[in-house]
Amino acid sequence: MADYKMEIKNICCIGAGYVGGPTMAVIAHQCPHIKVTIVDMNVARINAWNDENLDNLPVYEPGLSEIVAGSRGKNLFFSTDVDKGIREAEMIFISVNTPTKTYGKGKGMAADLKFIELCARKIAEVANSDKIIVEKSTLPVRTAEALKSILENSGNNVRYHILSNPEFLAEGTAIEDLLNPDRVLIGGEDKDAVDSLVEIYSNWVSSEKILTTNLWSSELSKLTANAFLAQRVSSINAISELCEKTEADVNEVSKAIGMDSRIGPKFLKASVGFGGSCFQKDILNLVYIARSYGLQEVAAYWEQVIIMNDHQKRRFAERIVQTLFNTVSGKKIAFLGWAFKKDTNDTRESAAIYVADYLLNEEAELVVYDPKVTAEQVYADLDYLNTRDASLNRKLVRIVNDPYEACNQAHGIAILTEWDEFNAYDWEKINKNMKRPAFIFDGRSALNKEELRQTGFEVYSIGSSNVGI
Ligand code: UDX
Ligand code: ADP
Repeated sequence: MADYKMEIKNICCIGAGYVGGPTMAVIAHQCPHIKVTIVDMNVARINAWNDENLDNLPVYEPGLSEIVAGSRGKNLFFSTDVDKGIREAEMIFISVNTPTKTYGKGKGMAADLKFIELCARKIAEVANSDKIIVEKSTLPVRTAEALKSILENSGNNVRYHILSNPEFLAEGTAIEDLLNPDRVLIGGEDKDAVDSLVEIYSNWVSSEKILTTNLWSSELSKLTANAFLAQRVSSINAISELCEKTEADVNEVSKAIGMDSRIGPKFLKASVGFGGSCFQKDILNLVYIARSYGLQEVAAYWEQVIIMNDHQKRRFAERIVQTLFNTVSGKKIAFLGWAFKKDTNDTRESAAIYVADYLLNEEAELVVYDPKVTAEQVYADLDYLNTRDASLNRKLVRIVNDPYEACNQAHGIAILTEWDEFNAYDWEKINKNMKRPAFIFDGRSALNKEELRQTGFEVYSIGSSNVGI
């Protein structure tokens, strides 16, 4: 077997997105002796990463701009020159998007690996020295095999070794997760290649937190971790519906069960439904893989997590219509929050999109306020669903920069994201300027419902008994 233990002086990352950007910024920050170049074919994105004004970085993450400011131009570079980035590096991270397929076999279920394959072909085409290739994107188990086959058949005598190093960072806390990870997982077959990557992380992660496994365990662990996390959310969301019928309170139930050390307190917050680029995609992927091996029960088991999540989004929207006297046609509903969770500008698979779509089908008029999401993004999310003409989306949905303006003369307010600032609003002032009765539908149980009721609101809060509404 070839000796792959090489000294890593240059790292290239293909893909300057939500994963590649923050991960490489932290590696550069923690390893000043390594030159890190992030390449992407999206020129606008690279320009934004290079923008003098750090407020214009394409990804919003607490602490990210400070880290980028400290390393950019020193040992952290953003470039569109993919070929040069590949040629210079001893180690290449692949961090491109792997969305759910929207066409052909596996449509709506399997991961679309075309971007990964394009990267592999590019590397095979331009590399002129040995490389360690690191899978960073979430991939179906055994993708490394396909990568290997493309790379090793390039015929240019370059030797490759493939590692799986799944990313466990959560958006909104990415920098903290990267600096203090619960664990770093590295899967690979060649010990020297694995050690090269272990060495990089050892610059700031203690050795007992760096776990090495075989390639396939590493690939499957990422899917499994996301499936378990999503399952917890769907489990508590299922209980939230039962709470609403039985006068139990889901937050009290969460607290009570979370104190059992076997269950633990995290990921037990009932919500309008999970979103984000990973959970749904990874579970669909898991279901697809299980089915492709003929494991029907395994597939059905995990699919239920998605079915429950879709139900939760729909029943929240239905509840709004039902409470507003069974019609929202021509009524103004203020959406506070559009991102899939707080502290991110990412809206992929956000519950807000689906709740909005449902209400727009009922002819509601929406006014959206989110502290970090742009109007273009909101329209792009709605247009992508292709439910109605894009011009109608622009007619029925308005995006504003001021929450008070969003709520002015609204029939109801829907809380879709748990942004901290919502709790600091002058709710009395908001209440005064609303139509009567003034309704709030809190899809995150983020607000103090007792205080709001005293202020004169009719409050529906997910997972509470909601007496009187
Ligand atoms: C997730 C995984 O946590 C991370 O390890 C992986 O690398 C990528 O996918 P992310 O999607 O960024 O990260 O966010 P996460 O914090 O996991 O939240 C996902 C969704 O679940 C959000 O919509 C969030 O609001 C929702 N959620 C989370 C709940 O509704 N309740 C909870 O208790 C926790
Ligand atoms: P993630 O959340 O996984 O980081 P993103 O969509 O935010 O996903 O980022 C993926 C990035 O990868 C995008 O900026 C996209 O332009 C880039 N990308 C995809 N395919 C290629 C490729 N073949 N070469 C270079 N960049 C690519």
